[in-house]
Amino acid sequence: MKKILFAASESVPFIKTGGLADVVGSLPKNFDKEEIDVRVMLPKYACMKEEWKEKLEFVTKFYMDYNWSGRYVGILKLELDGITFYFIDNEEYFSGPKPYDGGLWDIEKFGYFSKAVLRALPEIDFRPDIIHCHDWQTGLIPVYLDNFRFANEYYQGIKTVMTIHNLKFQGVWGTNEVRNITGLPDYYFTSDKLEAYNDANLLKGGIVYADKVTTVSNTYAEEIKVPFYGERLDGLMNARSNDLSGIVNGIDYEDYNPETDKFLANTYSVDDFRKEKVKNKVALQEELNLVKDPKKMMIGIVSRLTDQKGFDLIAHVMDELCQDDIQLVVLGTGDEKYENMFRHFAWKYPEKVSANIFYSEAMSHKIYGSCDAFLMPSLFEPCGLSQLMSLRYGTLPIVRETGGLKDTVEPYNEYEKTGTGFSFANYNAHEMLNTVRYAETTYYEKKRDWNKIVERAMNEDFSWKTSAKQYEDLYNNI
Ligand code: ADP
Ligand code: GLC
Repeated sequence: MKKILFAASESVPFIKTGGLADVVGSLPKNFDKEEIDVRVMLPKYACMKEEWKEKLEFVTKFYMDYNWSGRYVGILKLELDGITFYFIDNEEYFSGPKPYDGGLWDIEKFGYFSKAVLRALPEIDFRPDIIHCHDWQTGLIPVYLDNFRFANEYYQGIKTVMTIHNLKFQGVWGTNEVRNITGLPDYYFTSDKLEAYNDANLLKGGIVYADKVTTVSNTYAEEIKVPFYGERLDGLMNARSNDLSGIVNGIDYEDYNPETDKFLANTYSVDDFRKEKVKNKVALQEELNLVKDPKKMMIGIVSRLTDQKGFDLIAHVMDELCQDDIQLVVLGTGDEKYENMFRHFAWKYPEKVSANIFYSEAMSHKIYGSCDAFLMPSLFEPCGLSQLMSLRYGTLPIVRETGGLKDTVEPYNEYEKTGTGFSFANYNAHEMLNTVRYAETTYYEKKRDWNKIVERAMNEDFSWKTSAKQYEDLYNNI
């Protein structure tokens, strides 16, 4: 039996700001329970949902040296769907209204978390064979582990995997501050280790010291070796290319299931979507005060509203797009300029555009289960889960061919009658608009073909089955 510890800054159902939480909360359930004992360690945020906080059970507590004083480390736990989740408790660090604040405070608190994860192991009597770290917030785990090994036999032989969910976020701050806070020796702060471009870089530390590095799609694993996608670490990615691989994400096929989804007005399946799915669209049109018309093509967006997701392309052609015979339903929060852009167009075209500038799990399910198409023209996309959810609900993704979008959406080929969505190659607003219009023509003029695409989309399998097996193989090969 292999023992694996996941360490991450978010996980469903406890706390979520993006796809990372979906992955950390759903992948562990899909490992072979006879082969792998996987547990998960997270920060205990005060902003976590109350219903979960009250279920946590106290395990133990101790004090740990960090940033020049003895810091409290409480450990709580909860078993859910057969997986043990541990929570690191420290009110000073994890009491904010959100998991991330940005700036030096984030560096300090996730440095604390990384050290506490390692120090907690002997206390909970779980010595993992492998610690699987996710994103920059856990980048210092492989570094501290390297450091602890010298003095403490307990830590010798523990291996690490570092998964990059998004290379854009690296956890970077001035070397002196980071050295001072973390207490790591000078030795680590050189350009072949933690340092990059004269600053300390937590993700880089993780990538340098991890035994294996993965990212969340094959295409992204290749893309980050070139400067355009490499976020100034493409050199390092090339240097570690023998240990770097891409494993595409899956989604939770129980949580996201059009046949049982409790958020939908009407459930449906691949056998009856032709009749049943449209009822959801009408219900959503009513809920959002759009024109009630089952025939109208409805395009959905569920996203963090940031540059990553291609919203400058959308902003550029929004007026043109709104001339078309479509409805656009947006759910998202993020950069103010994009929030206001969608508010503006919802004001200008109230019967066509609905801007829902908030976070809502329920509304996200309604959009996946009601729209005809889903727009995701990302500038870069390590994997992307929204397009997988859309495929599952027969809502055809319109995507740019990058990262995981390229690996999971097969563009419609009207001659060969293949494909599960629509895609375009270049980061160009009119190329995107043309592709949206091609989808519109297919929807309005070739309804039979459209429904065939929907059928193929719904028959795809993006559950965790295949990818969980790939992670198991990776663990076995370390
Ligand atoms: P990223 O992690 O880059 O944000 P992904 O596509 O991997 O992108 O995952 C996004 C996840 O967050 C999906 O589960 C999506 O449904 C969800 N999501 C994004 N914005 C919202 C929102 N405003 N309300 C509800 N869910 C959202
Ligand atoms: C990141 C990426 C997204 C990916 C998610 C989960 O947030 O932006 O593409 O799907 O992590 O791996």
